Amino acid sequence: MKKRFREHLARKPIEDLISDSHLDQSHSLRRVLGPIHLVMLGIGVIVGAGIFVVTGQAAAQYSGPAIILSFVISALACAFAGLCYAEFASMIPVAGSAYTYAYATLGKLFAWIIGWDLILEYLFGAASVAVGWSGYITSFFGDFGMGIPEYLSSAPLVHDPVLGWQTTGAIMNLPAMLIVGACTLLLVIGIRESAHFNNAIVVIKIAVILLFIGFGVAFINLDNLVPFIPENTGEFGHYGWSGILRGAGVIFFAYIGFDTISTAAQEVKNPQRDMPIGILGSLAVATVLYILVAFVLTGMVNYSRLAVPNPIAVGIDSAGQSLFWLRPFVKIGAIAGLSSVVLVLLYGQSRIFFTMSRDNLLPRRFAVVHERFRTPYIITIITGLAAMLFAGLFPIGLLAEMVSIGTLLAFVIVCVSVPVLRITHPRMNRPFRTPFVPLVPVLGALISLAQMIALPLDTMLRLVIWMAVGFVIYFIYGKSHGKKHPRPTSDEPITGILKND
Ligand code: ALA
Repeated sequence: MKKRFREHLARKPIEDLISDSHLDQSHSLRRVLGPIHLVMLGIGVIVGAGIFVVTGQAAAQYSGPAIILSFVISALACAFAGLCYAEFASMIPVAGSAYTYAYATLGKLFAWIIGWDLILEYLFGAASVAVGWSGYITSFFGDFGMGIPEYLSSAPLVHDPVLGWQTTGAIMNLPAMLIVGACTLLLVIGIRESAHFNNAIVVIKIAVILLFIGFGVAFINLDNLVPFIPENTGEFGHYGWSGILRGAGVIFFAYIGFDTISTAAQEVKNPQRDMPIGILGSLAVATVLYILVAFVLTGMVNYSRLAVPNPIAVGIDSAGQSLFWLRPFVKIGAIAGLSSVVLVLLYGQSRIFFTMSRDNLLPRRFAVVHERFRTPYIITIITGLAAMLFAGLFPIGLLAEMVSIGTLLAFVIVCVSVPVLRITHPRMNRPFRTPFVPLVPVLGALISLAQMIALPLDTMLRLVIWMAVGFVIYFIYGKSHGKKHPRPTSDEPITGILKND
């Protein structure tokens, strides 16, 4: 019995993880990404529906102009977690992100738990942003009189806390499915091609945001920023300091994604140096942009008018004719911007599945790399189909809450793992060291935990059900397969990455 229990806690030696990745260099994924690519990858996935949609709603309902402080608080939590991710990403520069770190530190069962949990972040994340994209594209076409009928552009299933699951009469959210399909195709063709596409999009969306900040600042009316912290209504979370905290929890979604960089480890030329630059660099750029947008937006328009799906456009409209020319650019920026978020989240998910298959926790044949494109195409297609299904069926709110809780749980495990590994592997080479251990990891874990608890009970229950399903799969499949990860030898081409012939 004891032996069996120990089996679940079997750790994958870090030396194995790293030697796998060295062997990978000549046999599998292409190492083509540099530090700039990584920062771009990070911005590509971070800046999306959060800033283009959620900011206005959080300001209107919870924080008022003090949404700026909500952004600062959320950024702090992400920075603590980001510093922990950076240590791991530089020390274990292997695809798989938190899944891999958990395998090295806490053992197979925890690795499975986090791998399963990360699906919530990436797969559901891609699906939820695709639904946001569908909203923008539908409205864009609508501006030109080419509306897409609602029964083809909205969720057929919704969940009401009182009435339970209900059908809406819609068939499927077709645009959301199409954007997922297009991104999947791109990822199958190649990482370099995907990175070029991502870079182009990042430039467009940053340009649009900078235009908004640069031109919008002239239209700030200081009266809109007073009172900076609107008085609490008497209900927790509605303005006042509790509102700032709830606002921070809500706009946490806007920061999600920086950890995706750590899934790219095996395609990075110099992961030890470049991964921390990518993670912390993109987080820093996003934080500065978010705070500036929040300041300009709540300065241009009274926060009470921002509970809309397109707050930035409302900001522009408030300036009258002077900024009218900027309107279509904002829509195009949002459409382009959300596409790259979908792309990079799908990318992250496929790399995590890839690593899990390589470790035999999922069927090993899934990890086949395409002969010509050198991408894990089977896994990528499976990931894409699953995301298409979720995007086509469910509404954004339900998906996004699952994304937040899944991400926060991953943060907690990564933060806890840093001090654990400092104790179990004190001599391990750490090209990047998280500062002030254990203070930073402990704060990162505690803030993430607090944010999890603040989410609605329904979401917590769904997390429990999701994890229970994961346990069932683990005990049926992963338990018996996952232990077979033989130490590679130099004449064994690759551990678990099968060449396609
Ligand atoms: N951070 C990503 C977004 O805001 C998920 O769209």
